[in-house]
Amino acid sequence: MVWLSCGLAALAGLLFGMDIGVISGALPFINEEFNLSSQMEGWVVSSMMVGAAAGALSAGSISKSMGRKRALLASSALFIVGALVCVVAQGPTLLWIGRILLGLAVGVASFTAPLYLSEVTPERIRGTTISFYQLMVTVGILAAFVSNAAFSYIESWRWMFGVLVIPAILLFVGALSVPNSPRWLAAKDRFDEARDVLSKLRGTKEEVDYELGEIRDALNRESEAKGFAMFKRNPNFRRSVFLGFALQIVQQFTGMNVIMYYAPRIFQMSGFEGTSASLWATVVTGLTNVLATFIAIALVDRAGRKPILYAGFFMMGVTMAVLSFVLHIGATTTFLQYLAMAMVLIFVVGFAMSAGPLIWTLCAEIQPLQGRDFGIGVSTGANWIGNFCIGFFFPVMLTGIGGTATFGILAVVNIAFIVFTLLLVPETKGISLEKIERNLLSGKRLRDIGI
Ligand code: BGC
Repeated sequence: MVWLSCGLAALAGLLFGMDIGVISGALPFINEEFNLSSQMEGWVVSSMMVGAAAGALSAGSISKSMGRKRALLASSALFIVGALVCVVAQGPTLLWIGRILLGLAVGVASFTAPLYLSEVTPERIRGTTISFYQLMVTVGILAAFVSNAAFSYIESWRWMFGVLVIPAILLFVGALSVPNSPRWLAAKDRFDEARDVLSKLRGTKEEVDYELGEIRDALNRESEAKGFAMFKRNPNFRRSVFLGFALQIVQQFTGMNVIMYYAPRIFQMSGFEGTSASLWATVVTGLTNVLATFIAIALVDRAGRKPILYAGFFMMGVTMAVLSFVLHIGATTTFLQYLAMAMVLIFVVGFAMSAGPLIWTLCAEIQPLQGRDFGIGVSTGANWIGNFCIGFFFPVMLTGIGGTATFGILAVVNIAFIVFTLLLVPETKGISLEKIERNLLSGKRLRDIGI
């Protein structure tokens, strides 16, 4: 049962990734068919993020009232409808609507799945689940890139969207077969059902009794202010909500999704001819993203969060600067073309080994228990808001100020994030969540709450 639940959350991560990955391959063909201006193109890409931000911000109350299981069912149903609307769209307006529906679905799922996972898995394996979830996001992106490249031969962007239905159906069937979260049942005063579910999830009666006792205690403590009420009342909690928000904006403003959404276009700008060739170059990008995530998984509890973030931002800053330079002098030789491609790949390694998984980890670690749902809801919403800005403004900037300046700005921004990390980000390696919470609530500086 625990494995089934993990599989379910993994599917949600996969959908998250496929949703992000599908557009880069579909865009050149959509452009051909609908003749989009760069602003309309920005909307096709970023309408999904508008839906996702709204979905993530409302997911807290949806999954509280409906329960995690039904929230996941609803989101996979929305996913199927959204994908089908994109498949049949005869113009940009329907495509926007389909993308918004896909976004709403992924917004709800990107909040609910990890939450459900953390509520049904035993404590000892809970730590690895967040990196695992991020790994599935990268696998989803890669799967979409491969399907994009394959369907590019028949020039069908509709099929690229159509395949999204498969994992969505799997998620729907999976969500039907898992139990309700025992914590949610208990919060709804349905203790007998909570006990039934826990006895299916845990090995012994002692474990069940112990955990049910813990849940009861936590619920009693929860009669104090929590969520938004806590946010209004407690300035220290406001600081961690602010930090979660800022961390996710930083993650997006690294420019990673510029590569995820517009890689084929960047490869074409750097001299790779033909849509299929640039789509296969994009597959290599997706594979690099998956593989480099393992570096983070291996290092995160050894080297600590901050050194990895410094290294990642530095790599991303330098590679963007070189790419900007290559575009400035023009990628006229094969050497320069491959240099541009190498820069994109090293950039992806920089992100995948650092900000990709670590920002999600930090956002889950810094919130005090009573405000965790609210805090994570806000930071997940911020992730999609930042994602929207990048998806929308990149093509506009590219046409307005050109590639050299656009990538130059990304270079500067990434170097600035080193300073942000130095001044505001705590080191949370090997520190218990309770200690982080005590430090935060006693008013320590944000960068010191892990000491
Ligand atoms: C980010 C996504 C991004 C993905 C790339 C995630 O951590 O939130 O926006 O597309 O990583 O692997």
